[in-house]
Parts: sequence; structure tokens; C-alpha cells
Amino acid sequence: MGRWKFVGRTDELSRLVNAATSPDGRGLFLSGTAGVGKSRLLAQSLAQLPALDCAVWSASANIATAGIPFGGLAQVLPADQPAGLTPAGIMRWAVEALHQQAAGRRIVIGIDDAHLLDPSSAALVYLLARSENTTVLGTLRSGEPVPLPIRALWADDLVDHAELGPMTPAETGELLTAMLGGPVDAPSADRLHRLSADNALLLRELVIAAHASNELSQAYGVWRWTGRGHLPPSLDDLVDARIGQLDQGVRAVVELVAMGEPIGLTLLNRATDTTAVEVAEERGLIRVVTHDRRSDVRLAHPRQSVAQRLSELGESVDGPLPALMARHARAEYAHSGDQLLAVANDFAELELTVFAAEATSRAISRLRAARSSRSHEANLRLAALLRRCDVLRTPALTIRQPALTDRERQIARLAARGLASRNIAEQLYISTRTVENHLQRVYNKLGVADRSELWPALRAMSDPEAEPEG
Ligand SMILES: Nc1ncnc2c1ncn2[C@@H]1O[C@H](COP(=O)(O)OP(=O)(O)OP(=O)(O)O)[C@@H](O)[C@H]1O
Ligand SMILES: [Mg+2]
Repeated sequence: MGRWKFVGRTDELSRLVNAATSPDGRGLFLSGTAGVGKSRLLAQSLAQLPALDCAVWSASANIATAGIPFGGLAQVLPADQPAGLTPAGIMRWAVEALHQQAAGRRIVIGIDDAHLLDPSSAALVYLLARSENTTVLGTLRSGEPVPLPIRALWADDLVDHAELGPMTPAETGELLTAMLGGPVDAPSADRLHRLSADNALLLRELVIAAHASNELSQAYGVWRWTGRGHLPPSLDDLVDARIGQLDQGVRAVVELVAMGEPIGLTLLNRATDTTAVEVAEERGLIRVVTHDRRSDVRLAHPRQSVAQRLSELGESVDGPLPALMARHARAEYAHSGDQLLAVANDFAELELTVFAAEATSRAISRLRAARSSRSHEANLRLAALLRRCDVLRTPALTIRQPALTDRERQIARLAARGLASRNIAEQLYISTRTVENHLQRVYNKLGVADRSELWPALRAMSDPEAEPEG
């Protein structure tokens, strides 16, 4: 499976293209959840702009550039930057230089993940949006803090701001067809929609997983998904024993949770029928666990029997996945960080990156609880996997936050951004030694060896402010 063609999203696409080509040139920013298809949509719209009328620049902000002044716009800024300019000077020079290069055409700047722009780049974007004959298009991850100058774009009416929703079931179907290069039979498509909750990135992971385990097969030109066509047998037993026949909606809820537990309640409600979720909970098939402000849903029966049934399944079903899943379930049940790490490795080898990241994330919790020295290694591996996941987050990737005090968290963030202890001490009016003491406690709690591992560890905790703010 290589890169597939762009499908669907007709309205959003023409909105973006019109924003850049209409006479008033008002730009457009789209916010959406992880993996909903923002980057691809923006890239597609930029590619469609007429080169004769538009000079197009695109940049994609990311965590690596977030700490570097003008790092986020490195792909946009002309190379021949004069030396010795102040930040304000760079901005004026950049606006002028871009206008010169555009030679009378409309300047169009596309910025993917604009919430990750460093402050200088964000300010420059604002300035560009205000300059003549210029349109800014961009994407933002919902729920992430947005730099002030970017928020000011729509507060000051320089751009429109809209939410990019999930794809429609029809579009997900088209996407599936595009990924596989041929039509998919209706029941398979339907199951894949429900499992992916119309999320493009999850759909891609599911399709890759199904491919890897030979669960997708083509007959007479039509793709069919043969994997997990039914509830795992253990769940069937459970269901029969508890309540007998289940209606389809409730069954769908239990299947979905079995496949992806723990799964966020919001996602579950979106992917299935809300009443069915309530019924499943009432009947004791699933349980909702709330911590902090998030609710996760799990199956209400021990994983041990799931592991048992999965390994039986592994003997009767071809492909490596059932056996691996069984090992995963057993490692979870045994609370073994080492086993979880080994399973994570095998997932990674099959290129099941999200599964690998989840298993690693669980391993870190276990290793940390056991005060194992391997948690350093696991932290680094998780960071590498997360980079490959392209910032997708699932509930299982959210490790319960170890209890850092406010001070420890504050110091950890500063250190993660590269500040020396001496500078942190100056900034907080405390002694360098106090800073070092706090840091040592943080290292112990997070199971990291030094500063270089601090940021991945904070990030793995889903500390919303762990990312460098520049
Ligand atoms: N309309 C589409 N047509 C074809 N492929 C798509 C479409 N939308 C998304 N995809 C594919 O789905 C995957 C996820 O999409 P994309 O990377 O655009 O999501 P995103 O919203 O930018 O995610 P993130 O929040 O992680 O940045 C990519 O592999 C992308 O190519
Ligand atoms: Mg993206």
C-alpha cells in the first residue's frame, strides 16, 4: 500500500481553494481532531491553486521547530536573509521579500499544525495575513493551545475559522477503496467504519494491521475483511451467560471495546449508539472508569480469559496477529513491563506502530511502578514510536500522570526546554542546588536518566504544556 489518491471532502476543499482565489482573499483555518485528515486536505487544496495567479508557500510546524525563532516558517522564509536584523527587522524583510518573489501574484501561505508555530513565526503569519494581496490557510489540532497571533487572525477577522468534522461514512468508504485499490464488500466496510470511528488515521492503521495478518483478501475484485468477523468466543460465552441474545447495537459496543480497550467514552459514543453504550454498561458488559476529567471504557471481565481464547484463536487462524494479541493480553495481566516491551517490539516489527506505542506506554507504567532501570530505554522507544505515529494519541497512550508537585513540574518543563539549572534558578529566584534537588526527584518519579529524556517522558505523560513553547 503506497500513498493513495485524495478522496471526498469536496465542500471543504472548495472552501479552501475559494478562500485563496476569491477577490477579498480572506483566509481559512480548520481545526480538527488528531488524524481526521487536516494535513492531507490542506496539501490537496494548495496543490490545486493556479500557479499563474498564486505564489504558494507551505510550512508545517512541528515540535522540533517550536522552540526555534522563525523555525516554523523556515520553509517559507527566503534563504538570503540579511545578517544582523532584529526580529522586527526580519519580519519586515520577510514580508517584502515574499512580495518581491510573488511578482504581483497573490501570496498564499499554507500552515499545517499552526498551533505548533513558534511565537516569532506566529507573529510573522499575522503580519503577512494583514499585508496586501495575501491569504493564509492553516490547520490546527482541536484542544491544543493556540499562539496568540494565530488566534488574533480570526478575532480580527483576517481569516475564517471552521471545524473539520470526521469524514462521512460514504467518504470513509471511498477512502477504504482508495487505500486498497479496489471496492470493499459492504459488511467489511461497515465494520471498518465503526472501528475507526470515521478517523482517517485509525482506518489506515486498521487496514495495515489487517493486511499484515492476512485478514484482508480479494475475491473477484472485491476486498473482504475476514478477521474478527464475530465477537471473540470468550465474549460470546460471556454474553450468553449474562444476558442471552444481545441486540446488534450493544454487540457492536462490546466488540469495539474488546478491540481497543481502554477506549475513550467520547470516542465510543461517537462511533456507536449512545443508548447501546448505556445498555452495555447497565448490563455489566463494559465499565466506565473516570480519572481526572477523562472517562475510559473497558470490558467488564478479566483479561486472562481473553488471553486464553486469543491464543486458542491463534492456533486456528493464520497470521501472527492473534498470537501476538494473546501475548499482549497475558503481559498486561501479568503486569509485566518486560513482557510488554517485548510485545511492543514485535508489533513494531509488523509496522503496527500505534499498537507498539500503546504496548510501550503500558510497559512504562509497569516498569516505573517496579522501579525498573529499563524504564529509561522504554521512554526513549516510546518517544521514537510517537514520532512515527505522527502525533496520534489514543487513551492507552495517556500514561497516568505521576504525581509531580507544581514546582517539580515547572522546573521539569524549563529543563526539558534546554535551560541550564543555573538559568532556571535565576528565573525562579531559588538556588541552583534546590533546582538540582527538584530535578533529581523528577528523574526518579519519571524514571529518566537525564535531561535529554525529560521531554519525551513529559510528553508521554500527555502533559499539555510539555512541548517547548519557544
Ligand atoms: N481525503 C483523504 N483522501 C485520502 N487520504 C486521506 C484523506 N484524508 C486523510 N487521508 C489519509 O489519512 C491519514 C491521516 O490524515 P492526515 O495526516 O491528513 O490527518 P491529520 O488530521 O493531519 O492528523 P494529525 O492531527 O495527526 O496531524 C493520512 O495517511 C492521509 O493521507
Ligand atoms: Mg496533520
